[in-house]
Parts: sequence; C-alpha cells; structure tokens
Amino acid sequence: MSSPAVVSPEEPFVLRAGVSDLAGTAAVAISVAGVLRAGDLVLLTGELGAGKTAFTRALAGALGVREPVTSPTFTLVRQYRTDVGVDLLHADLYRLEQMAEVLDLGLHEQLEDGAVAVVEWGERGVPALLPEHLAITLAADRPERETARSIELRAVGAPWRERWAELTRAVASRLPGSTAADPGRQR
Ligand SMILES: Nc1ncnc2c1ncn2[C@@H]1O[C@H](COP(=O)(O)OP(=O)(O)OP(=O)(O)O)[C@@H](O)[C@H]1O
Ligand SMILES: [Mg+2]
Repeated sequence: MSSPAVVSPEEPFVLRAGVSDLAGTAAVAISVAGVLRAGDLVLLTGELGAGKTAFTRALAGALGVREPVTSPTFTLVRQYRTDVGVDLLHADLYRLEQMAEVLDLGLHEQLEDGAVAVVEWGERGVPALLPEHLAITLAADRPERETARSIELRAVGAPWRERWAELTRAVASRLPGSTAADPGRQR
C-alpha cells in the first residue's frame, strides 16, 4: 500500500508521499504530467537508482511520447515530441563538469520557446538559471522494501504554486488511501 500523500501546514507547498512500487512512482509522474504547461521546468533529485529516469519515463508516456525514454547521461539532454503540442526535454546533469555546460544546453531558450524540461541531477546548477520550478526528490529509504520510495514535491515560484491545489488533488486521487486533498470532489 502507498502511504497517504501529506501536505503539512508548516510547509504548504511541499507534498510528501510514500509509494510501494514503480506503479506508485508512475502515478505521481502522471499527476505531474497532467498539470504541465509550456515553459515548465521539473528538477529531479535523488541518489543513483532512486528512480529519476523511471519517473521521467512515466511522465513522458503520459504526454504521449512513444519512443523509449533512456537515460541521457552521455548526451546530457534528449528531446521528445509529445501529443500535447510541446516538446519534452530530458536532461541529466550527473556528468556536468562546468556550469557553462548548463548554458550550452540552451534549456532556458527552449523553455522560452515553449518546451517543458525534466532535469535529473538538476540541483547542480539549474535553479540558479531558472528559479521557478517543481522540485521532486525521490528516495529509496526503506531497505526492507526494495521498490518503496519516498517522494517529495516542492513548488518553487508562483507558476507552480498557482497549480499546487490541482497537483496535490491529482496525486491524492491516484495514490490509494491518500488524504492530501479531497480527491472525491474531482470525480
Ligand atoms: N518505486 C519505484 N520508483 C522508481 N523506480 C523503481 C521503483 N521500484 C523499483 N524501481 C527500479 O529502480 C530503478 C530506478 O532506476 P532509474 O534509472 O530510474 O534511477 P535514476 O534515479 O535515474 O538513477 P541515475 O542517477 O543513475 O540516473 C529502475 O530499475 C526501476 O525499475
Ligand atoms: Mg537516471
């Protein structure tokens, strides 16, 4: 069972959820995909193997990407056509050596042109360039259960805060037993 997604009164723009398997991670990713707008940036943080690429794969699938989504570790960024009229950029900055390389990726320009970007290891420099983003942290923090993950979503900046209620409702409605919002009202 997934644990309920929780927004605490102290941190109203932070949502925490525990998922028990890949399907739970995908449920969160699909929820994020559902509220994406042109120009959005999503930063994925977490240890090697936490599930950042798996999350991106589910998000891409929800946007209608049919090509296989593979880790862009050696190319730093890959671009996918979606069904929703915006391109999806998937970057992985694990091998980033210099900040100048972030600029070279041209994420900023492509987001201004209406793409959406999901960046693994994005905390390595992207927030300095693009302060408004959805920060997602994945952690495999239950050794006794290999497929369990804790997932934290944090809305940074007005564009994400505007959609926060919509996003938390979407996550709550997809994670069984969740009480983050009132999912019943969506149906
Ligand atoms: N609940 C889960 N969420 C995400 N991945 C899961 C989950 N349970 C099992 N997995 C597995 O864990 C692995 C996660 O690998 P993934 O490549 O997505 O990690 P990553 O965070 O992108 O690592 P890296 O930093 O190397 O890019 C996959 O094999 C996936 O199937
Ligand atoms: Mg990865």
